[in-house]
Amino acid sequence: MNDGGLIARPGGPLRGDVRAPGDKSISHRSLILGAMANGVSEVEGLLESADVLHTAQAMRAFGASITRTSTGGWHIEGRGALIEPADIIDCGNAGTGVRLIMGAAAGFSLAATFTGDQSLRGRPMMRVLTPLGQMGASWICREGGRLPLTLRGGSLSGVSYRLPQPSAQVKSAILLAGLNAAGETEVFEPEHTRDHTERMLRAFGAEVRVVDSSSGRAIRLVGGQTLSGARISVPGDPSSAAFPLVAALITPGSEVTVRDVLLNPLRTGLFDTLLQMGADLTFSNVRESGAEQIGDVTARHGPLEGVIAPPERAASMIDEYPILAVAAAFARGQTVMRGIGELRVKESDRIAGMARSLRDSGVMVEEEPEGMVVTGASHTNHGVRGGASVQTHGDHRIAMSNLILGLAAIEPVSVDEAEMIGTSFPGFHELMTGLGADLLGA
Ligand code: S3P
Repeated sequence: MNDGGLIARPGGPLRGDVRAPGDKSISHRSLILGAMANGVSEVEGLLESADVLHTAQAMRAFGASITRTSTGGWHIEGRGALIEPADIIDCGNAGTGVRLIMGAAAGFSLAATFTGDQSLRGRPMMRVLTPLGQMGASWICREGGRLPLTLRGGSLSGVSYRLPQPSAQVKSAILLAGLNAAGETEVFEPEHTRDHTERMLRAFGAEVRVVDSSSGRAIRLVGGQTLSGARISVPGDPSSAAFPLVAALITPGSEVTVRDVLLNPLRTGLFDTLLQMGADLTFSNVRESGAEQIGDVTARHGPLEGVIAPPERAASMIDEYPILAVAAAFARGQTVMRGIGELRVKESDRIAGMARSLRDSGVMVEEEPEGMVVTGASHTNHGVRGGASVQTHGDHRIAMSNLILGLAAIEPVSVDEAEMIGTSFPGFHELMTGLGADLLGA
């Protein structure tokens, strides 16, 4: 193992009351829309993770002034337009960052070159470039539509685009480009995906129309709208809250509350699935905060039953399958996860990564091209063995999921690299040890 690893050792119950870091999706969007808007935006609770800080740096390069205030808020002064950056834009590990910024930039008469870390340079960008190209943007890129690439924007026309795969990133990129395109832009999504862009565009004063039908949802906006600065309060990220909550569900004697968690129904698929598995999960203090619903979520240890996770729920829990697979490892019977081919093009191939690491911890997993089936170890009456030395391939969620497994397994679990956990969950180590977890640097 190299110096940057972590070991999770099985230990006593987890107990406590914590706040998850700010939502990553909303944090990226607040910086991008704030930079595009006219005037001042103030953001409270921004996720100060490596991914989001790359987006802040990128939006500065596109002309916005972005500063952290002495009280931990973020102050953005947008110009109402983006200007051509003087240097290459490095989006680090962030697929959301680069895809949304490309959409935003495409609406302006400029050229910009984007790159990212090794993981991001391997991820598909044609899914965004194809619709942006239909709108009139052009680009030069590596074989297969990979970063680094140079995008040239300006003089766009509205488009009507049907998403070939459920993707809030692609939807958002098209809508952001559509803000500065001639005429109307429409995105049609057969399956609903997270709607933070639509909600936040309205908070910045844009008019966005959403029309639901039996075949899906159409989102429309007319180009030529100028955004005005707004105040945004970023709720806790349910995708991060999932780690301490699942840790409590699988570790005997545990009770953990995570406060102020985003409860947008397009993000709560994991909670729905855990409830279906019989998890002792309760929601309190549910309320509106700005454009979103939030609440406190409490998880208590108890038995879990394997279930079929409905494929139509996939988009609302797309980042949570690795930790769901861990919950499934502790459940009685099989948990079937299908319709999740998109997991193969995330920060790493998460189906392969979880199948391999769970097997190394003694869990039975059948890997399918677009899914996986996990057989819970509780039928053996011996529990989950653990003991894996996990290669994370630079993927934060593979690292965190396997560490959570290690807290409740029989043998410790180690991960080869932990630094990238900071792309989405800075403070994961401290938060988990504060709850009683035995996590040690390796
Ligand atoms: C995100 C959308 C999802 C998700 C990602 C964040 C967003 O990606 O996996 O972590 O903020 O729009 P896709 O849109 O590619 O499914």
